[in-house]
Amino acid sequence: MRTVEWDYTQNKVNLIDQRLLPGELRILSLNNYFEVAAAIKEMVVRGAPAIGATAAFGMAIAAHQSDARNTKEFQSDLKEASEILGSTRPTAVNLVWAINKINLILLNADLTVEELRIAVLEEAQRIADEDVIINRRMAEFGAKLIDDGDTIIHHCNTGALAAVDWGTALGVIRMAHSQGKKIHVLVGETRPRLQGARLTAWELEQYSIPYDIITDSAAGYFLQSKEVNKVIFGADRVAANGDIANKIGTYPLAVTSCENGVPTYAVVPFSTIDFSIYSGWDIPIEERDPEEVLDLKFRSMPIAPERATARNPAFDVTPNKYITAIVTESGVIYPPFSENLKHAFRENSIG
Ligand code: MRU
Repeated sequence: MRTVEWDYTQNKVNLIDQRLLPGELRILSLNNYFEVAAAIKEMVVRGAPAIGATAAFGMAIAAHQSDARNTKEFQSDLKEASEILGSTRPTAVNLVWAINKINLILLNADLTVEELRIAVLEEAQRIADEDVIINRRMAEFGAKLIDDGDTIIHHCNTGALAAVDWGTALGVIRMAHSQGKKIHVLVGETRPRLQGARLTAWELEQYSIPYDIITDSAAGYFLQSKEVNKVIFGADRVAANGDIANKIGTYPLAVTSCENGVPTYAVVPFSTIDFSIYSGWDIPIEERDPEEVLDLKFRSMPIAPERATARNPAFDVTPNKYITAIVTESGVIYPPFSENLKHAFRENSIG
């Protein structure tokens, strides 16, 4: 199944509960938009494109359940839903991008409540369907950068689970593998929520792609020892100048790969590029509960003293100078990113 889907028989949102993987593959059925918002916040579903599509379906469930008697009341109900869904996670811009797309539909004051309900669901479905097409296109462009025999460091989870299907950076790896290229993936475990060890490794097993899990701090060792040919990751928000906010640990990984002359690629749909923000320093960075860092056991023992405190930024910003190229649905974009991203986006919108 897809990571997130609209259930047309029950008018609910179904998604894979990513908290349980790799132990259990369970589908969760969400009954209202409050449950959808909680699922995004608690990372039942995570990954920038996946939370965008989920928020869009959250708006569709709000539309389905609104008992508004006229268009104005309906718009006000959906405004409330958009505020709750939009405030769940701050960094991945796909969330507000998807909600804004639904809000544009709602501006159509000539439509009846029933017509708007249908139009909102159609738009949410379109966002989900296009996500799959775009990811596949990026995978095809990105696979051209991968050579037979490559060893690749991948960070976080950017696969089918992080999107509606296929995924971004992991989609590229999957495509290169399906083309018969022999590749080996070094999977950064991605502390503290272990998206690499739990989710990326699980996905790689589904695709029969050889891998080893490495601790995040081992990346430098492998880059220095010349065992690695490429570094590849996704993004949660890219500024107009190509600075990239992605899962915490991306910045040191990119700096070290650059230092060692290893090509470093970000795979990013245009829905993740925020042209309203010029540089990465304007991207809001989510800081999550310190318990995610501390509440771990090693050989059944707590990993830190009982009264230990922690900090838990979920993302960091990689300045554009550490990025070799950005793979988008309109092709592979090279520096200078400020000009070339804008140009590619315009071409893509026209084409
Ligand atoms: O906190 P998460 O798991 O939602 O973070 C996900 C990432 O950082 C991914 O690398 C990112 O969304 C890009 S891949 C689609």
